[in-house]
Amino acid sequence: MLQVLDRTRDRVSKNAPQSWTVGKQKVVLGDCETLLAGIPAGSVDVVVTSPPYNIGVTYRSYDDRKPRQAYLQWLGRIAVEISRVLKHDGSLFLNVGSTNSDPWVAMDVANVFREHFTMQNNFTWVKSISIGNDSVGHFKPISGKRFLNHNHESVFHFTKSGCVELDRLAIGVPFKDKTNIARWGHERDKRCGGNVWFIPYRTVRSKSQKFGHPAGFPVELPERCIRLHGRQNPVVLDPFLGAGSTLAAAQKLGCDGIGIEIDPVYAQTSVDRLRSA
Ligand SMILES: C[S@@+](CC[C@H](N)C(=O)[O-])C[C@H]1O[C@@H](n2cnc3c(N)ncnc32)[C@H](O)[C@@H]1O
Repeated sequence: MLQVLDRTRDRVSKNAPQSWTVGKQKVVLGDCETLLAGIPAGSVDVVVTSPPYNIGVTYRSYDDRKPRQAYLQWLGRIAVEISRVLKHDGSLFLNVGSTNSDPWVAMDVANVFREHFTMQNNFTWVKSISIGNDSVGHFKPISGKRFLNHNHESVFHFTKSGCVELDRLAIGVPFKDKTNIARWGHERDKRCGGNVWFIPYRTVRSKSQKFGHPAGFPVELPERCIRLHGRQNPVVLDPFLGAGSTLAAAQKLGCDGIGIEIDPVYAQTSVDRLRSA
C-alpha cells in the first residue's frame, strides 16, 4: 500500500511528491486534491481527517479564510476522491468544528459530504466540560457577553451504504452495574460507550508540546475511530495530515497509514513525531 503514491511518482517523475516512510507510515508532502489521484480506487479502509474549517486559523501557509462557496466546492472535489479510494465497507471519520459566530460551518461541510456518502453516526467530541462544580479540560477565554465557551466539535462518520458493521465494544466501557452482564447475557464486561466522546487536550505550556500546529486533534481521537471501524490491519488515510496525529494513531495500532500535508514544516513535524515514537 505504501507504494501507491510511488507509482504515481514513476509516471510523473519530474513532479515527484516528496515523501517519507517511517515503518508502516508514509507522509507525502503536497496538495491532497491532486495526490489522492495516486491512490488506487477501493484501497483504503479508514479515513480519519480534519480539513481546515475556514474559520481564520493561522496556519503557516494555508489561507483559512476562503469565500464560503469556493471552500465548500473545494471540499466537494476532495469528497469525490475520498469516496473513490475508500473500500465499499470503509469508514470516513470527518472532524469539523465551528465557532460561536459561525455555527453552521461544520453542518455545511457535512452537507457537502452528504452528496457522496451516508451519515452513519454523528459523534460529538467534547474537549472540555463542567460537571457539577468541577471542570475538566481547557476552557479557551472568551470575550463579549453573547456566547458561552465553545467546548465541542463534530466527528461525522460517513460510509457508502450506511450499513457498515462496526466494533462498538472495541471502544466500549465497563458496565456500571455489573449485574447487567449476566442479566442480559453479555459475554464480557463491556457496553457501548455512546456517541459523545470526551477527549480533552493534554495540558501544555508551550506550542512545541502541540507539535507547533494550531489545530491538531489528540491522538486518542483517530485511535478511537480506527478501533471502532474494527478491521484487522486496516489501511488508514489522512489527506489533511497536519502534525501527524492520525498516523501516530495508525503507528500505535500497527496499521498501514498514508498522510498528505501541503505545508513542508507540518509534514516534517509528522515525520519527526513518527520517528521519535
Ligand atoms: C485542521 S488541520 C489538521 C490537523 C491534524 N488533524 C493534526 O492533528 O495535526 C488541517 C491541515 O490541512 C492542511 N492542508 C490545507 N490544504 C491542504 C491540501 N490541499 N492538501 C493537504 N493538506 C492541506 C493544512 O496545512 C493543515 O495542516
